[in-house]
Amino acid sequence: MLILTKEDIQKCFSMTDAIRAAKESLKIYTAGDANVPLRTNLNVEKFNGQSLYMPAVSSGEQSALGVKIVSVYPDNIQKNLPSVPATMVALDPETGIVSAILDGTYLTQLRTAAVQGAATEELSNTNAKIGALIGTGGQGYQQAIAMMTARELTELRVFDIDFDRAQQFAKELALDMQGVFQTKIKAVKTSKEAVLEADIVTTVTTSKVNTFDADDLKPGVHVNGMGAYTPDMLELPSKLLTEANAVIFDTKDGVLAEAGDIQAPIKEGLMTAEDYTGELGELLLDKIEGRTSEQDVTVFKSVGSAVLDIVTAQQIIEKAMQQNIGTTIDF
Ligand SMILES: NC(=O)c1ccc[n+]([C@@H]2O[C@H](COP(=O)([O-])OP(=O)(O)OC[C@H]3O[C@@H](n4cnc5c(N)ncnc54)[C@H](O)[C@@H]3O)[C@@H](O)[C@H]2O)c1
Repeated sequence: MLILTKEDIQKCFSMTDAIRAAKESLKIYTAGDANVPLRTNLNVEKFNGQSLYMPAVSSGEQSALGVKIVSVYPDNIQKNLPSVPATMVALDPETGIVSAILDGTYLTQLRTAAVQGAATEELSNTNAKIGALIGTGGQGYQQAIAMMTARELTELRVFDIDFDRAQQFAKELALDMQGVFQTKIKAVKTSKEAVLEADIVTTVTTSKVNTFDADDLKPGVHVNGMGAYTPDMLELPSKLLTEANAVIFDTKDGVLAEAGDIQAPIKEGLMTAEDYTGELGELLLDKIEGRTSEQDVTVFKSVGSAVLDIVTAQQIIEKAMQQNIGTTIDF
């Protein structure tokens, strides 16, 4: 059995690899070659915790099997422990034997950013130059890398309601990415400053209110909504969703059931679920159209899926084994 830490994964699996894996995952999902049961949530009341189990199995282009375990223990912060620890357990789909254990926190950041990168590659204008990232928390760093991997950005503006955090984030990212991307990275004080003239906007926040004003967006913009994943969470304005030329989801079932911003215009009677365009997997399989002109406004909305975890994990394991990376243990 292979143990893969964040550092091991970084050594053998790039954002470009992860974007490719995300596209394969969503094609497999849309083609009906994945079984992704609802996650099982266990309350651990005695310790004020919750433990979530996200299993999935896939066939078709990539056979993969596994379960990601994500726990939410708010009191861990006082013990100097992570409050949302996550671990990926991958099984060999041919034998059912556990093949690897991976850092689930990094896997989540990577696959969530990669699915955004996949959508940005498929939906934004190819000559996109200015990016805006709203939300500089745990997911933000890889989201920024995915945006810069998908398009050659000259400028990336980052905004967070915590300006100090945004400034620190911009400083660190600029330092780390020196010589990797030619993008000027700067923190800005308002979301308006971030999105004005932006070609690509990505939101990845815990917000319950619109994170920007739709009237500040320019024609031709592509927007990725990565944060809201419960009915009371909201990042994208209804005006954007009702007026966009294409609104595409990672998984239709997941987004329509969970995402507050996608549900809002339906609840307000402005549109029906059928008015949304479809899934990214359908676009990749040429079953629906995405952007049809440079002036089109396009939107991608994600709530995540265990199919992304198992397929990405399987591809990481294969690369790590080829390159002899990771620690092997025997029971
Ligand atoms: N789509 C997916 O597959 C997927 C996967 C993982 C996490 N998520 C979601 O992404 C979101 C972000 O995750 P995280 O781990 O980075 O969270 P986090 O708590 O580490 O960071 C959230 C950041 O958003 C900022 N924020 C909140 N409201 C804002 C607003 N209105 N405008 C600007 N910034 C605002 C906060 O200040 C904070 O810096 C969460 O909702 C999480 O559940 C989605």
